[in-house]
Amino acid sequence: MRVVLGVSGGIAAYKACSLLRLFTENGHDVTVVPTRAALEFVGAATWSALSGKPARTDVFEDPAQVPHVRIGQQADLVVVAPATADLLARAAAGLADDLLTNTLLTTRAPVVLAPAMHTEMWEHPATQANVATLRSRGVHIVDPASGRLTGADSGAGRLPEPGELYAAALAVVEPATKPDLTGLHVVVTAGGTREPLDPVRFLGNRSSGKQGYAIAAAAAARGARVTLVSANVALPAPTEALVVPVTTALDLRDAVDARFGDADAIVMAAAVADFRPATYAAAKIKKTHPPDAGPDASTGVPAPQEEGMPGPTVELVRNPDILAGLVRRRGAGVRPVIVGFAAETGDADGTVVDHARAKLTRKGCDAIIANEVGVDKTFGQDVNTIHILRRDSAEVRTVGPAAKAVVADAVCDVIRDLADHSVPPQ
Ligand code: C5P
Repeated sequence: MRVVLGVSGGIAAYKACSLLRLFTENGHDVTVVPTRAALEFVGAATWSALSGKPARTDVFEDPAQVPHVRIGQQADLVVVAPATADLLARAAAGLADDLLTNTLLTTRAPVVLAPAMHTEMWEHPATQANVATLRSRGVHIVDPASGRLTGADSGAGRLPEPGELYAAALAVVEPATKPDLTGLHVVVTAGGTREPLDPVRFLGNRSSGKQGYAIAAAAAARGARVTLVSANVALPAPTEALVVPVTTALDLRDAVDARFGDADAIVMAAAVADFRPATYAAAKIKKTHPPDAGPDASTGVPAPQEEGMPGPTVELVRNPDILAGLVRRRGAGVRPVIVGFAAETGDADGTVVDHARAKLTRKGCDAIIANEVGVDKTFGQDVNTIHILRRDSAEVRTVGPAAKAVVADAVCDVIRDLADHSVPPQ
C-alpha cells in the first residue's frame, strides 16, 4: 500500500519515526511529508533514511515532478501524526501553503489525522470546531490519549502510541473484519499473576497484558463470545469481553477450569508464576533489627541493619502448570482448542523457535505462540514479533514486527483454523 505519512511540528514527531517503521516493516511504501515546523523536531535526513525516499516540505522543491498533486493522487492512505492545532486549522480551512496541505487537498484516499497538543489547545473551541469540520468531511480523527505532556503537566492531548496509530490507520483501509469466529466461546488469559508474601508484598512479573487484551478484542471483533481472565492488568477492558479478574495462579486456574466445558478455545497468554511462597504471612513481615544492637549513641534508637546483610528467606513451592492441566483434562477430545504462549530467548542450546517447538511437544497443546523476550522486547511494548508453531504442521509462521492488534488477528486466524479442523462430534 502507498502511504503518505504527514508529520507536523510537535514534540510527538519523534513517535512518527516508529510509526513509519511499522509501515515499512509491514511492506508498505511510505512517503514522508513533514511540515517546516516538523523539521525543527526531526530532521529530513531521518525521514529519508527511514523511508528510503526524499522527504519534501515545499511544493517548489522538485516542481518537474509536480509533487503537490502526484503524492496525494497516488496515495492509498494519508496519515498525519502528529497533527498540530495549526495543521488541523489549515486542513479545515482548505489552505495549500505547503506540500502536506496540498497533498490533503489532492488526495482521494482515506485520511487519518492524529492530533497531539497541549490540553488547552485541544479543548479550545477553535480546534474542536476544526475537528468537527474535518470529521464531517469524512476525515478519520484518532482521539488523543490522556497522559503526560511535554513538561510537568498532563491531560488530553498526547499522541497515542505508534502501535495504536498503526492499527487505527489500517482499520480505516482494511475491509471490516469478517465475523468468522461467530458461535465460538474463546477464553483468553492475560496479564501476570501475583503471588502474595504478606498483605503488602507479592512476587510478580512484567507482563502488561497488552497482547492478551488485543487477542480478546480481536476475537470479539470477529464475532466470538469472549471471556477475558485478567491477572493484574492496568488497561481498559475491551467492551465486548466478559472480564474475570484474578490475582494468583490458583485463582487463574480456577477461573479457566470453571469455563473449560463451555469453551471452544482457550488462549493462555497470561504469564503464570511457576512458584508461589510456601506460606502466606497474615501480618506484614517486619524488618527486624539485629538482636544485640543497642541504641545508637546519637539517635537513641537501634541502628538500622546494614545494607547487604541477610534478610528473611522465602521458601517457594510449585504452582500447577495450568496449560498442561488443560491438555490432560481434554485427553483424547478435540475441544477446546488450546493455545499456549512461550516467552523465549535464544541461547547456545537453540533459537527461540527451537525452544518453542520443544515446549509445544512438552505441553501437548495445539499451538504455541512464541515471542522473543528481553528487557526492551515484548513486555509492555506496543509492537511484537511472534512465531506461530502448530502441532499439526512443521511450518513456522512469523508475524511482525507489528502492532499487537495485527499479531492478535494472526492468533485469531489460528483459532479459527484449528476450530474448523476440530469440529466436535454431534
Ligand atoms: O512453561 P512456560 O511457563 O514457559 O509456558 C508458558 C505457557 O504456559 C503460557 O501459555 C502460560 O500461560 C502457561 N503456563 C501455565 N501455568 C504455569 C506456567 C505457565 O499455564 N504455571
